[in-house]
Amino acid sequence: MSITPIGPRRLDGPEQKITTATLREQKLRHEPITCLTAYDYATARLVDEAGIEMVLVGDSLAQTMLGYENTLSVTMDEMLHHVKAVRRGVKNALLIADMPYGSYQLDPKAAVANAARFVKEGGAEAVKIEGGEKRAELIRQIIDAEIPVAGHIGLTPQSVNVMGGYKVQGKSLGGIEQLMRDAVALDRAGVACLYLEGIPREVAAMITAEISTPTIGIGAGPECDGQVLVFHDILNLTFGPPAKFVRRYGDAAAMITQAVQAFRTDVRSHQYPSDSESYHLPKDTRGALETVLARKRAMAR
Ligand code: KIV
Repeated sequence: MSITPIGPRRLDGPEQKITTATLREQKLRHEPITCLTAYDYATARLVDEAGIEMVLVGDSLAQTMLGYENTLSVTMDEMLHHVKAVRRGVKNALLIADMPYGSYQLDPKAAVANAARFVKEGGAEAVKIEGGEKRAELIRQIIDAEIPVAGHIGLTPQSVNVMGGYKVQGKSLGGIEQLMRDAVALDRAGVACLYLEGIPREVAAMITAEISTPTIGIGAGPECDGQVLVFHDILNLTFGPPAKFVRRYGDAAAMITQAVQAFRTDVRSHQYPSDSESYHLPKDTRGALETVLARKRAMAR
């Protein structure tokens, strides 16, 4: 296997290290921010080299990479394993690590310590936490530890049991009011960006206009300051029908299946490997080997 080491690169423009300040500048310039999830070295490199500004090691890896039923089971150590791999593949994008369920809800001191692990051991540049105004104080404490925090409100998958399923949030007047309070509280707490998931377009637009924090939407309409999608969703690697907001940009499942089946067919029909895909002895060694084998055959007679 040969892998080219990371060097200077960016496919669609000049090299630029993205920071939390860059996100704010983009919001002010009305320049849409792009974010994709990545969970391993190879995809992180591809996403970064394509010029995506933010790479999120989402806890969605519980489902996409580890095959869990939801995001609740994934552990700090499992998340860290993936964050470290992604770190090795990302050069310019802002690298955000998702704090898994149980790593920040139980005890604020443990939460800050866990956030610090993502920075110190994983090389993350920010951590993401689900929840609105009830998380504002914790977010302040993490920022006090010099760790930028991304907020995440609306349909927060770690609350699946409380929400009673994955349901669009903020559809009633009360729900809209709560989302506005959540957004304003996190804006004041100083989050670096705010993920808005599964909320009506109109509500996401109101939040985006109201706060100075850049908003990154997923199923939240086009008025957000940026958009995030799950890598596996855009490439048809999720083994199920996509959510309404997902746009598929490729069919990696079909491509991989075709390649794997072709390999199997070639091996079973002796088409792989060919002579040109094989290593050969140097000429003189081959000559010497043939002499030895001929002698052996003669002695055996
Ligand atoms: O885990 C994840 O991938 C996420 C994004 C969908 C925002 O939280």
